[in-house]
Parts: sequence; C-alpha cells; structure tokens
Amino acid sequence: MRPPPALALAALCLLALPAAAAAAYFGLTGREVLTPFPGLGTAAAPAQGGAHLKQCDLLKLSRRQKQLCRREPGLAETLQEAAHLSLLECQFQFRHERWNCSLEGRTALLKRGFKETAFLYAVSSAALTHTLARACSAGRMERCTCDDSPGLESRQAWQWGVCGDNLKYSTKFLSNFLGPKRGSKDLRARADAHNTHVGIKAVKSGLRTTCKCHGVSGSCAVRTCWKQLSPFREMGQVLKLRYDSAVKVSSATNEALGRLELWAPARPGSPNKGLAPRPGDLVYMEDSPSFCRPSKYSPGTAGRVCSREASCSSLCCGRGYDTQSRLVAFSCHCQVQWCCYVECQQCVQEELVYTCKH
Ligand SMILES: *[C@@H]1O[C@H](CO)[C@@H](O)[C@H](O)[C@H]1NC(C)=O
Repeated sequence: MRPPPALALAALCLLALPAAAAAAYFGLTGREVLTPFPGLGTAAAPAQGGAHLKQCDLLKLSRRQKQLCRREPGLAETLQEAAHLSLLECQFQFRHERWNCSLEGRTALLKRGFKETAFLYAVSSAALTHTLARACSAGRMERCTCDDSPGLESRQAWQWGVCGDNLKYSTKFLSNFLGPKRGSKDLRARADAHNTHVGIKAVKSGLRTTCKCHGVSGSCAVRTCWKQLSPFREMGQVLKLRYDSAVKVSSATNEALGRLELWAPARPGSPNKGLAPRPGDLVYMEDSPSFCRPSKYSPGTAGRVCSREASCSSLCCGRGYDTQSRLVAFSCHCQVQWCCYVECQQCVQEELVYTCKH
C-alpha cells in the first residue's frame, strides 16, 4: 500500500470529524475544548502552554505536516475549523443530490476519481485557504497578521484598525503544507492536484477591496482600503457549479515535456482533437455510481426527504416515496391591541412530508 498522498490532507481532515462536531461549527470562537475524534479517544481539556502540540497530534497529518503544525501555534485550531467548514459547505451544496456528502464511515470515495471526489478536494483546499487567511487577520495565528501586500494602502489601513485578510500568506503556506507535487506518472495525483488548485483559485477570485472614508462629516479626505474575502458560501456555490460542469479527463503523454498531462477529449462534433482542461474546471476520471442504494460510497437515498414537485422522482431513483402528514403550528389572526402589542392565536396546519421508499 502506498502512503496516503499529502495532497489528500485537506480531504482527510473532513473524515476526522463527527457530524455532531460539524453542527457546532457556527458557534466556534477558537477557544473551545477539542472535540473527540472517532477512534482516538477523548481529548482531555488542553493544558495551557503545550496545548497546540497536543492538538496537532490529534489531527490526521503526515509526519512533515505534523512538524509544521507543531511549529505554528494557532494552526491546529485553524485546520480543524477548516475541516468543519468544508464538511458543512459540502452538505449544504449537496442537500438536494443523491450523494449528500455523508462521509462518515464511507471514505472509499476519496480514493476514486469521481466528480464528487473532485468537489471534496476543491472544497477542502478552499476552506483551508479561506480559514487561514481569516485566522491571520483575526489575530489567531502567531506567524501572520493582516494583509501587508503592497499596492493598496493596507499599511495605512492598519492605523485605522482595519485588517485585510491575508490570502498571500495562506496560499503560500498551503502549497508548502501540501508538499511537493507527486510523481507526474500518476493520473489521479495530477487530477487531485488540479482540483485542489481549483479550490484555491475560487477563494482568490472572491477577494474584494473594501474602502472606508474618514474626514469631517464623511468628506472622504482620507480613504483607506483593504482586502476582504467574500463569505465562504459564495465559494461553495462556485465550486458546486464547477462540479455540475466537471470535465472528464484521461491522460496523454506530452512527448515534448516527457510527462503525463491531463487531457479532455473533444466534444462530439467538435473539430478539436482534445484539449487540456481549463484551470477553473474540476476534472474527474470515472463516472460516479448512482448513489441510489447503500454502498461503500453512500448510504443510499432511502428515507431522504424530497419535494414532490421537484426532487422525489430523481432522488428516490424510481422506488417511489412515502407520504406522511404532520401538524405545524403557526401564529394567526393577529390583532394590534391598545397600546402597543400584537395578540395572535395559535393555528395548526397540516403539512405533507415525502420520503423516499426503501
Ligand atoms: C444524508 O442522507 C442520509 C440518508 O440517505 C441521512 O441519514 C443523512 O442524515 C443525510 N445527511 C445530511 C447531512 O443531510
């Protein structure tokens, strides 16, 4: 068995998380006691001082990555937060699909070349880039702070107490963290690296410049600008669109360069013989299974809630659906009372819920 590719790190992070921990993400302040990882026992409340070393040991990292993690206080928490973020975003973006990003106990997908694998690589590296850039500007890392790239008046912005997201640091760190590219003979390694890069690019293109005026009554005598990342949801949306239009590739040996390249066959009827995939395209090598029935790739779609108009026929794979009614309470017959409140009654309405049959 070959060792797990360093590039799979980001995606592997995803696996280390119980779903319940992911659900708690939105309340994270970065100072919580570590969540226990499956199979690794319960993490004791971290002792002050050496806490981050212990956190690094709990993450599924290669030896080199563990060293980098230990050298950089704040990184372990950032890695964990990125894993939460990518898992939640994946589940949100795939909530209406047959494969709903339920990864627990189903890691086989990461070793394949499906479109879903491509999305996981991209969303993981995007989450890591995003979280790290934010952690820098939020002052949660020791080795990086605000964006200090030249060009913008970012240094000046510091004086006003605003701090740009440090994308430069995070992308540089990430390429070091993921390590040198693996041998170019391996098609999957090239595809994984390509998809990882699509994720980083998606974050880069979500960098916006924000400006603020200072001066007497908004006269804008002094203007400061800084760079700020868009919310991660936007990047998740971009990557989901890329998933929908992912390009199937095979390999071709580039004789001139003497190495293997990704190669996308021409569309039927096109005069082109074939092209390299564009830098923003997610690439895959294998057609996905249907994800209808339980397998090592997914729990299947039995029991999934669907919409009768929109999704039941495709989500339930033709097996049909069960209909249940449930009662939902809501406020009704509201009246404004003198003075000054609104009085409502509680009404109850029947609602139908459709779930895919077994
Ligand atoms: C995904 O679908 C399975 C049923 O196929 C369900 O048990 C699970 O809770 C779903 N996960 C999410 C995140 O919706």
